[in-house]
Amino acid sequence: MKVITLNDEVAIGQAIGDRFCTLVQENPAAVLGLATGASPLPTYCRMIARFHAGEVSFAKVHTFNLDEYCDLPATHPQSYRSFMQAQLFSQLNIDLQNTHFLDGNAADEVAECLRFDALIEQLGGVDLQLLGIGRNGHIGFNEPADAFTLGSFKVQLAPSTLEANSMYFVDERMPTHAMTMGVGAILRAKEIVLVATGAAKAEAVKAMIQGKITPQLPASALQNHPNVTVYLDPAAASLLQ
Ligand code: F6R
Repeated sequence: MKVITLNDEVAIGQAIGDRFCTLVQENPAAVLGLATGASPLPTYCRMIARFHAGEVSFAKVHTFNLDEYCDLPATHPQSYRSFMQAQLFSQLNIDLQNTHFLDGNAADEVAECLRFDALIEQLGGVDLQLLGIGRNGHIGFNEPADAFTLGSFKVQLAPSTLEANSMYFVDERMPTHAMTMGVGAILRAKEIVLVATGAAKAEAVKAMIQGKITPQLPASALQNHPNVTVYLDPAAASLLQ
């Protein structure tokens, strides 16, 4: 795992955004693995700025998002599809037909997960996967568990995840379940970049990089991947030895 500490989230967003842009310049039909939450926002800002500067076109890329809430209409402002539309897709020349999500409302969730995983394989796999990390070490919505997950599946969100994300659901109940790519599927990406900022992530970051590999800290599985770069700000890096 390569670990890079930069001054702040803007510098991190520039570095990761530039990596995405370089990939798409080299391979205009690249398959991008995307995340939601606060961590990816500076990266998306950088991609949008470089698109508006005429430096890169996203017309042919395919995107796969890591996860989506269950029992929330796709049109709900807090669905991850709505998030991606507002924060990235609406500001790029991306073809929305090429933006892929798990359907958290699918009647047959097993079939939906198989469909999603098969589509990733059909398109040649994810070239570059963007990840954040939960305070409990989750990646995607792979919560601490007794075994590492493989393909996509439906998950009950952990109490710390419900607490962290409840701020987005003012005056309404937050979904308790989500569908997520499994750890095995995430590890199949050819290249992975993970961003963590702030002191609240420091314990999880230390365990991910310097702890033992365990499904109780799902991000520790990244130690097994040959091409991972972790971008940290000084607060998130503060417990590393
Ligand atoms: C979201 C996702 C999650 C987040 C993590 C960190 O698609 O996959 O694993 O990356 O919960 O969230 P933030 O960035 O909001 O701290």
